[in-house]
Amino acid sequence: MNTRADSLTDATDAIRPPRYTRTAITLHWLIALLMIVNVVLGLSADSLPDDWVRPVIDTHKSIGITVLGLALLRMLWRVSHKPPPLPREFPSWEKIAAHLAHFALYLLMIALPLSGWLHDSAWKDAATHPMQWFGLFQWPRIGYVMHLDPTLKETLHDRFGALHTWLGYALYALLAMHIGGALKHEWLDRRSVFKRMTP
Ligand code: HEM
Ligand code: HEM
Repeated sequence: MNTRADSLTDATDAIRPPRYTRTAITLHWLIALLMIVNVVLGLSADSLPDDWVRPVIDTHKSIGITVLGLALLRMLWRVSHKPPPLPREFPSWEKIAAHLAHFALYLLMIALPLSGWLHDSAWKDAATHPMQWFGLFQWPRIGYVMHLDPTLKETLHDRFGALHTWLGYALYALLAMHIGGALKHEWLDRRSVFKRMTP
């Protein structure tokens, strides 16, 4: 049953719908852009001319580590702020699906760079090819992995590489759901969620 307080909230929401804070919006779009660029770089690496491969992969690694840092900041924001509630008229299955997809996207923001970093740390040539963050300073490999026995390291290099690829597939599926959901609210439900996430 709608109370008078609910009606007042609805009226206020209609004038000024609840929004994410500027920090959350900036982090959302920055991380989204960097992750999408990184998918393109990661997928194109194999089809590029030989002398492009190294700079492209080095840029991919630097972007990935940047995403890891930004994702940690974003999770700090998330645990210290309550996101604006989804409109009350959304059916509960959609709210649950949105929350599950958001949770999985947070996991991927961490798991994708971490699996890439593990994969790269198990690379047999890691010691002779130090990783540079955008050519500005040396970024460490994960020492524990780097100093394992070479045969085990080779196996782990393949396993972490496969994990990195599979996490990529999970990202494509979730992103399709995420964008599809936002467009459904925009075009079919006529209840925009973009306004909550645009500057
Ligand atoms: C890799 C890329 C992306 C990631 C990892 C990502 C992740 C997320 C997460 C975790 C949230 C929930 C924030 C929270 O409540 O804590 C969110 C919200 C949102 N995202 Fe994305 N996103 C990405 C790309 C996109 C793209 C391309 C669009 C454009 C359609 C988009 C549109 C939105 C919108 C409109 C919201 C707000 C939804 C709401 O009102 O609850 N995102 N995103
Ligand atoms: C935003 C984070 C990241 C995303 C979305 C991402 C995504 C991808 C994708 C989609 C691929 C292609 C996979 C395939 O074709 O099998 C890839 C490959 C790769 N990634 Fe990442 N990655 C990220 C972070 C990292 C990080 C932090 C590192 C290392 C420090 C890394 C190292 C690599 C390497 C070495 C490859 C193999 C490239 C090749 O030789 O074909 N990635 N990544």
